[in-house]
Amino acid sequence: MTDQFSKKAEAWSARFTEPVSDLVKRYTASVFFDKRLAPYDIQGSLAHAEMLAAQGIISEQDRAEIERGMAQIKGEIEAGKFEWLLDLEDVHLNIEKRLTELVGDAGKRLHTGRSRNDQVATDIRLYVRAAIDDILGLLGSLRGALLDLAERHADTIMPGFTHLQVAQPITFGHHMLAYVEMFGRDAERMQDARRRVNRLPLGAAALAGTTFPIDRLRVAKTLGFEDVCHNSLDAVSDRDFAIEFTAAAALVMVHVSRFSEELVMWMSPRIGFIDIADRFCTGSSIMPQKKNPDVPELARGKTGRVVGHLNGLLMLMKGQPLAYNKDNQEDKEPLFDTIDTLTDTLRIFADMAGGITVKADNMRAAALQGYATATDLADYLVKKGLPFRDAHEAVAHAVRACDDARCDLAEMSLEQLRAFSPLIGQDVFAVLTLEGSVAARDHVGGTAPNQVRAAIARVRQQLAE
Ligand code: ARG
Repeated sequence: MTDQFSKKAEAWSARFTEPVSDLVKRYTASVFFDKRLAPYDIQGSLAHAEMLAAQGIISEQDRAEIERGMAQIKGEIEAGKFEWLLDLEDVHLNIEKRLTELVGDAGKRLHTGRSRNDQVATDIRLYVRAAIDDILGLLGSLRGALLDLAERHADTIMPGFTHLQVAQPITFGHHMLAYVEMFGRDAERMQDARRRVNRLPLGAAALAGTTFPIDRLRVAKTLGFEDVCHNSLDAVSDRDFAIEFTAAAALVMVHVSRFSEELVMWMSPRIGFIDIADRFCTGSSIMPQKKNPDVPELARGKTGRVVGHLNGLLMLMKGQPLAYNKDNQEDKEPLFDTIDTLTDTLRIFADMAGGITVKADNMRAAALQGYATATDLADYLVKKGLPFRDAHEAVAHAVRACDDARCDLAEMSLEQLRAFSPLIGQDVFAVLTLEGSVAARDHVGGTAPNQVRAAIARVRQQLAE
């Protein structure tokens, strides 16, 4: 008799005749990774209990007991003293069981009008919302650091590349501002995704809603949600908000990865455009001379991981019939890892951007190779009346002659240049200098130093708003 009872006690409920095997228990449990939702689980439960009491579904005394118990549980978790049990499967059941231990029947009443299905969906939304707010702050810091770097180098000339071939001179400040733009759009995407994250699933219960006279808008208000999810089946089952967030996160990482690739190249002694502070680099265990840009390399690698999580979440969703299915428990690890990876990466990059030393002489020397001002010469001829295609051809001949003579366009004499077009005059030399070239691109979005400064001021203003 005692034996039978203890066996039953281990099973899920009176409906079951045997407990699950240890392997199945481990397979189905999520507590090892979802326990990080605990603060949000408690926050959601308190809002739910407050509403239940306000609606007369539970007593004020029950609500007070629930609050007291939850305060203690919070303390235990923060102190690392809470005992997480695999037997209790997930964060929700662990907390509820402990609450009941602490406050008795009031704890058992908390789950009235609620299911773990709407509970977990609420927890994740609260978690992702907080993560987005954190990420928005970090994107702001990174953009701020890049703006500082851009400002210090608004006049520093480097070669701009297309196809990784020297194309036209640009300023390093302008190059940094390209990333400021990318991370700015990333922030917009995060803000936009936040609007759809910020809707309350609670009240959907298991899938169909509840027979109790609940007040969903009240819970939404308490938890700071902008609206409720308007269909109970959708509320408990879709994770599109998590997918959307991960897509936005993957794009941030892709931008970080492009930047990383440039940092790695620029730091190569063969290019030598920059140096990265030692605290972001590591040495080699065998080659004493090495200083490797490990941080950008790792960030480039971790981008694959986050893009993988996006794919994982999309695949997780695609075959699921309405409404909740246990598949959804698999949303957490990719989501949490995405958040951890992105926040760590952004934090490090905001700091690392401040530790970039620019080797302006090397940049300048590189800009002088590769006929970076050839387009300027073509534009000059157009302004003298030559159709652009003819100007393009004339300059192509000049470049070829320079190639043979192993000199730059600016090193040719006026006489030599006039051989390619009689329209060329003494004023051509101002056009062929690197400074002349960048200063001439003087319009919104152009690389001219004064445009770079104006762009910096514009973004600073936005960041301050
Ligand atoms: N741990 C579960 C999850 O992450 C909670 C919801 C479980 N609901 C259920 N009906 N099994 O999705």
